[in-house]
Amino acid sequence: MKISIIGAGNVGSALAERVLTANIADIVLVDIAEDIAKAKAMDLTDASSLAGYSKRITGTGNYKKTEGSRVVFVTAGFPRKPGMSRDDLIAKNAHIVKAVVKNIKTYAPEAILVLVTNPLDVMTFIAYKEFGCERKRILGMAGNLDTARFTALLSSELNIPHEKIETFVLGSHGDTMVPILSKTRVDKKPLKDVLGKEAIEGLVEKTKKRGAEVVRLLKSGSAYFSPSAACLEILKAVIGDEKKVIPCSCVLEGEYGLKGCAIGVPAIIGKNGIHEVLQWDLPEDEKRALKNSAKAVKDAINTSSNQK
Ligand code: NAD
Ligand code: LAC
Repeated sequence: MKISIIGAGNVGSALAERVLTANIADIVLVDIAEDIAKAKAMDLTDASSLAGYSKRITGTGNYKKTEGSRVVFVTAGFPRKPGMSRDDLIAKNAHIVKAVVKNIKTYAPEAILVLVTNPLDVMTFIAYKEFGCERKRILGMAGNLDTARFTALLSSELNIPHEKIETFVLGSHGDTMVPILSKTRVDKKPLKDVLGKEAIEGLVEKTKKRGAEVVRLLKSGSAYFSPSAACLEILKAVIGDEKKVIPCSCVLEGEYGLKGCAIGVPAIIGKNGIHEVLQWDLPEDEKRALKNSAKAVKDAINTSSNQK
């Protein structure tokens, strides 16, 4: 089993380490800065006997080496700087993602693509158009990351283990993301039975701002420990054909009354990628919020096509 990771920066290299540690696939790590990819692959290889992994990693600038990859993660692109929104990255990153996808289409046309580059939902849609395959092989990682962040915040606020918290964050990976409170349970109880309205609103706001808060504190670069963990969850679901429900960005074909964009929805992930997009019967306010989120993504997609 071979996978490729495009972009050997913070997220790409953290993901490479997680995949090696999990011992589940050989990796081709590609970067336009070829020496960085080579150096990180070398460093990770040197850790094999210490960390106890046996899979191989190759660093390269040559896409030919991605041939036969089962899954390709696209992390190539610029991260935010303090004060920037994810949408501020559209023009530069759209250019990069198109070039990357073109190469994958040449050398690994059967792969499942997992987008990571921001703005995530816009890049997922652009990759779908560029790759020209069925939507089941294109997904964007963010929903499970935002869900994990909300879970972590609830867990520390309520001092309860994360295993006892069930929640989902859908919509775009941006200011309009939608924590699905109607499906949030703490120790099987509805969230509103264990936490007051104001406290819930405060945690929802913190979830939306979590990525920006990491950017503000780091001053250069953005989060990578939790994003790489979220990528690994998707990879395991594909490799193990887990048919696991994972919120991730999918190209919509009428689900939730939406099409012509990608946003975070609950999807069953297995060996072929998106096995099914689940259509939950959500309350009106959450349905409205999803539509609002899709509108923000569509506006950004239009901005990006006007910038060509
Ligand atoms: P980084 O700057 O550390 O790494 C990006 C890498 O991409 C660099 O090594 C760069 O050389 C490489 N690159 C640039 N252009 C390339 C090209 N044409 N081909 C191949 N490689 C190229 O950034 P990072 O922290 O790893 O973040 C990467 C992207 O992922 C950013 O856009 C960031 O905003 C996004 N991100 C998304 C999420 C999410 O939840 N979806 C989470 C974290 C980061
Ligand atoms: C995040 C980014 C970078 O940490 O999208 O959410």
